[in-house]
Amino acid sequence: MASIPTPLQEALGRLPQGLQDHLLRTASIARELAQFLGVDGEKASLSALAHDLCRAEPPSALLHEARHRELAIHPVEEAVPLLLHGPVAAERLRDMGIHDPEVLDAVRWHSTAHPALTPVGKVVFLADKLDEGKHPQPHPLLQKVANLARRDVNTALLVYLQWQIQRLVESGSPLHPATLEAWNALLLAGGLAPDPSKH
Ligand SMILES: [Fe+2]
Repeated sequence: MASIPTPLQEALGRLPQGLQDHLLRTASIARELAQFLGVDGEKASLSALAHDLCRAEPPSALLHEARHRELAIHPVEEAVPLLLHGPVAAERLRDMGIHDPEVLDAVRWHSTAHPALTPVGKVVFLADKLDEGKHPQPHPLLQKVANLARRDVNTALLVYLQWQIQRLVESGSPLHPATLEAWNALLLAGGLAPDPSKH
């Protein structure tokens, strides 16, 4: 693993045990996926290890810190401040001496995805979702995404985003524009193969 700055090691060590376990598993999945895809495993595992640095903090504190740091806050993030745990974590990582834009963007966009996700960002986004430890009864779709991720990362992302967007719409939840833009960008770049069962 890439060297982890001491302040990050200490901050990670203060997280709830369950979250630390999730971060270690996600880093392991990211490293494996990166190897399959020919992506920088050091950057992927460091980003994955740090992605939920702020996940345990109250949404109101995330909103406060995002305002204090003068981050651009979308109305959807005002309504669902938990979505700011990635952007706030990216800023804290910068304070800790991590300046690699690929690592910072992977952390920043791991919840919403983003049309400009790099290969490292795609690996971290998927590794987080594929950590089955978060799902006592993993949804069959996650198995499909896991299989796809090893051979076609963009289709794996599209299939996951389609599921995520459908769930959010069906539950009456707001959609972050970066999620929709990521969906559009991936779809227009190659698209999903038509599902024969739908015709
Ligand atoms: Fe996570």
